[in-house]
Amino acid sequence: MQLDVFTLVPHAYSWLTEQRPVATVLGSELDLRLFSYRDTTPLKAGQVDDEPYGGGAGMVLRVDVVAAALDSVYGGQPPHRVIALSPQGRQLTQDVVEQLAQEKHVTLLSARFEGFDERIVEHLCTDSISVGPYVLSNGDLPAMIVVDAIARRLPGALSEGSGELESFSAELGGGLEYPHYTRPAEFRGWHVPDVLLSGDHANVDRWRKDHVR
Ligand SMILES: C[S@@+](CC[C@H](N)C(=O)[O-])C[C@H]1O[C@@H](n2cnc3c(N)ncnc32)[C@H](O)[C@@H]1O
Repeated sequence: MQLDVFTLVPHAYSWLTEQRPVATVLGSELDLRLFSYRDTTPLKAGQVDDEPYGGGAGMVLRVDVVAAALDSVYGGQPPHRVIALSPQGRQLTQDVVEQLAQEKHVTLLSARFEGFDERIVEHLCTDSISVGPYVLSNGDLPAMIVVDAIARRLPGALSEGSGELESFSAELGGGLEYPHYTRPAEFRGWHVPDVLLSGDHANVDRWRKDHVR
């Protein structure tokens, strides 16, 4: 899968690319490209945003800047999904992640300050995604959330079996995963459920099914 992220801070993604599972699939199942709006802006001195028409606080990411960035990489409007990260977007859910992980090519656009000139969302994007009903300072944490969520659904990202029985998965009926415990079996009088220490796999499976939340 090809994932392209347009941002003002490509260097901020170096942490993400060093972490599993993104690091595991990079170069095989995932090709992640990072582009800076500043490298292709048609404006002087690396300008990318401007004051809002109608007045008010903050700066808005310019449509000509984003169009120039997309043109420089794709030679025009790309045929694949171009997604604006925005609080006004459709909420990111595991279902949305599963759909995105099936795509061959996806582009993510990050903004900052007051956000996108609306013409970017209307004319240059296919859709927009919100990572939750709250406002963050820029679209880079949201973009990293989307990249990480997609990466763990790509073949080979996770060790055998660990990606199937997860919260929100079809295998758990969309529910939340059962509780996990590890050593010590008792700590400050807090005990691990006996069934998990029993070695009886059928009973363990039953207990886990009963504890999907
Ligand atoms: C400070 S926010 C802009 C908020 C906008 N003025 C509003 O009131 O909805 C700057 C940028 O951060 C990103 N962002 C902030 N919160 C987000 C969220 N919940 N989901 C996705 N992107 C978000 C978007 O790219 C947004 O354009």
